[in-house]
Amino acid sequence: TIGPVGEMVVSNKVIRPDGFSRSSVLAGGEFPGPLIIGKKGDQFKLNVVNSLTDGTMHRSTSIHWHGIFQNGTNWADGAAWVTQCPIVPDNAFLYDFPVYQQAGTFWYHSHFSTQYCDGLRGAFVVYDPQDPYISMYDVDDESTVITLADWYHDPAPEHTGVIPPTANTTLINGKGRHVGGPPVDLAIINVVRGKKYRLRIVSMSCDPAFTFAIDKHTLTIIEADGEYTAPLVVDSFVIYAGQRYSAILNANQAPGNYWIRANPDIRGLPGYDNGRNSAILRYQGAPVVDPTTQFVSTRPLKETNLRALIHPTPPGRPEVGGADVNINIPHRFNGQTFRYEIGGHAWENPTVPVLLQILSQAQQPQDLLPEGSVYELPPNKIIEISLPGTGPEVGGPHPFHLHGHSFWVVRSGDSTTYNYNNPVRRDTVNTGGNDGNATIRFVTDNSGPWFLHCHIDWHLELGLAVVMAEDRQGTPAHVNPSKPPAWDQLCPIYEEENP
Ligand code: C2O
Repeated sequence: TIGPVGEMVVSNKVIRPDGFSRSSVLAGGEFPGPLIIGKKGDQFKLNVVNSLTDGTMHRSTSIHWHGIFQNGTNWADGAAWVTQCPIVPDNAFLYDFPVYQQAGTFWYHSHFSTQYCDGLRGAFVVYDPQDPYISMYDVDDESTVITLADWYHDPAPEHTGVIPPTANTTLINGKGRHVGGPPVDLAIINVVRGKKYRLRIVSMSCDPAFTFAIDKHTLTIIEADGEYTAPLVVDSFVIYAGQRYSAILNANQAPGNYWIRANPDIRGLPGYDNGRNSAILRYQGAPVVDPTTQFVSTRPLKETNLRALIHPTPPGRPEVGGADVNINIPHRFNGQTFRYEIGGHAWENPTVPVLLQILSQAQQPQDLLPEGSVYELPPNKIIEISLPGTGPEVGGPHPFHLHGHSFWVVRSGDSTTYNYNNPVRRDTVNTGGNDGNATIRFVTDNSGPWFLHCHIDWHLELGLAVVMAEDRQGTPAHVNPSKPPAWDQLCPIYEEENP
């Protein structure tokens, strides 16, 4: 683990998390990358050093701290071509940002092309020593992190087609078994009977959603994407790419071994398959053997049953279009261009990152590029964004993530109705399928350009993204208010790779 101050060297390494050897792009030489840990109020100083050499994968990089608001530090958001140029090989970039409002479960990943599918992803936990809520749950241990990932045997840049590649394996805490592969070790979560654990489940998926469950145990959900929820008891839940949940596990069963299951929604990979898409919950004193438990779900999560514990009611009139600014941006797959479009435009990386356009045009603002993909939002207003899928080729469900904010989910893919009274707050929402719609509300209290995109990384690469340029005039011009490097340090070298 590292943090809040540390160095992350990004390098290539041959690893075999599922028994198959391949070169990968790793932070700190590990998969998943090192767990980053800090406390609410910490100043994080994470120096990312690019030591990439393997030309079969992207050699530039950039790291996004998924879910961290970056209030006042938009420049540290890590989205290549939105807030910075990529970090080219043999260069470093210091991400120097405070986390003073937030605590919970986050993650980090490369935000350069589809690079995180090649390995650059890890969990990021912010503790709150004065947490007023966790005492309600009488938790003995809140440090267990369970990461879910898809894994591919080919380097991501080889996938140029329109149809996303099919993962060869899915991994829990970096371990899994591929079809026909060797019986390598699975991840083991050790518990003691009678204790309560806060499990932090992080989906680092490039594509599939996972159905997560632990045989014979219920899970009390208390957090979604860094926001506390009212406690909700379930026995399984679907978690989309980019999402996180905290769930309380009461280790109250007979001391033995139980399957921890994460079933991906991808064709070609078998469903729940003991010993493959799974990890093991092992009680103290249990024999070191594989579980023989079965999965029966009677209380799956309905996302519409989740409630924000804090700030439950979104501001604005409780009706569709009742915000100060209401934006309706349909998305679809364009069968002529083979690109995804939002509001009629597929995202194309601009040659100058959006943040640098804003800072360099402070005197004479021009329209921001890429044309049609940047929406300007006024400060201190209530915003509603509706993201309808316009079938039949929309290819959902798409988990949309907004940088820089949590939002109220007034409608999600699970539902055809709106909840303006007490919806969940989170940062990544499933829009549903062809005729689905996700509608979100938030307040523009965080200046800077923020990416809003599908977190299926293959879809982002195909253009399924826009930028919300919030409070253009107030965009923080200094890299760090306490120590302002020149803004052009965000782009030490321009040329190299712009995929
Ligand atoms: Cu987790 Cu723009 O991403």
